[in-house]
Amino acid sequence: MKRKVTKAIFPVAGLGTRFLPATKSIPKEIMTLVDRPLIQYAIDEARAAGIKEFIFVTSRGKSALEDYFDNAPELESTLRKKNKTDLLDMLKSTNMDSGAIAYVRQNKALGLGHAVWCARRLLGNEPFAVILPDDVIAAEKPCLQEMVEAFAETGGNIVAAMEVPPEKTSAYGILDIQEEKGPLVHVKGMVEKPAEGSAPSNLAVIGRYILTPAIMQNLNRMKSGAGGEIQLTDAIAEEIAQSNNVYGYRFRGQRYDCGSKAGFLQATVAFGLARDDLGPEFWDYLTRMVAARKAAQ
Ligand code: G1P
Repeated sequence: MKRKVTKAIFPVAGLGTRFLPATKSIPKEIMTLVDRPLIQYAIDEARAAGIKEFIFVTSRGKSALEDYFDNAPELESTLRKKNKTDLLDMLKSTNMDSGAIAYVRQNKALGLGHAVWCARRLLGNEPFAVILPDDVIAAEKPCLQEMVEAFAETGGNIVAAMEVPPEKTSAYGILDIQEEKGPLVHVKGMVEKPAEGSAPSNLAVIGRYILTPAIMQNLNRMKSGAGGEIQLTDAIAEEIAQSNNVYGYRFRGQRYDCGSKAGFLQATVAFGLARDDLGPEFWDYLTRMVAARKAAQ
């Protein structure tokens, strides 16, 4: 089995109802953390991991995403004339080479497993990555890069994993642990959004996956699971029964749930503070604001 991962799927078909009214006219993935759209963080992480082909599973109303990755000749020529080379370089770094990016439509919202399955014809018989752009991970070494390296060593299916509080397990895919092997966790079961009190652990799946072609074959059978949706978790769990070849990867870094408003705000503060150009002033503002609020209490 070839252990180089060069293709990644980005499921971006969701309606983003939690961010209405903003998402009435812009895709959630274009919403900005400081000054970069959510999707740019996912793309940068994929590139750092050696991904060369980017497959977007989209839906109606997502054309702003396609434009975002395209060249912007008028904007570029204006910046060139004004000698704004920094901005020009930054803009160019968001362009995708012709043929490096593909879009496939998910024409019915049947779940994450179904979204991934929609990309099957673009994958061939190779391992592939899946990145959920809602999960933004700040890390010294990008999470997917760590996982790709682990995959080169061990093969198998690898999902990013993180401990969550017991009362939150019902919001995630949860791993049933067989054996801990450093950051890798050999898994003996996996359940999507377990009912409260029934989770096999509190080790949750976070939105980064390295998957083998067998997962696509499992998805071909399309059984609906939790919430009546076709779940990626179920297709991976099936693989445990068939090959016992599924691992969790305890990544290093801070994960932000940018699918929720609270998580998005937290990420905005963290990324703002981490910026050389904004951090000091922002820190000043935050400390003054916190002090004022405390004094008013
Ligand atoms: C999806 C997956 C779930 C995973 C989660 C991570 O759920 O189905 O297994 O734990 O992403 O963010 P969603 O958040 O789309 O409901």
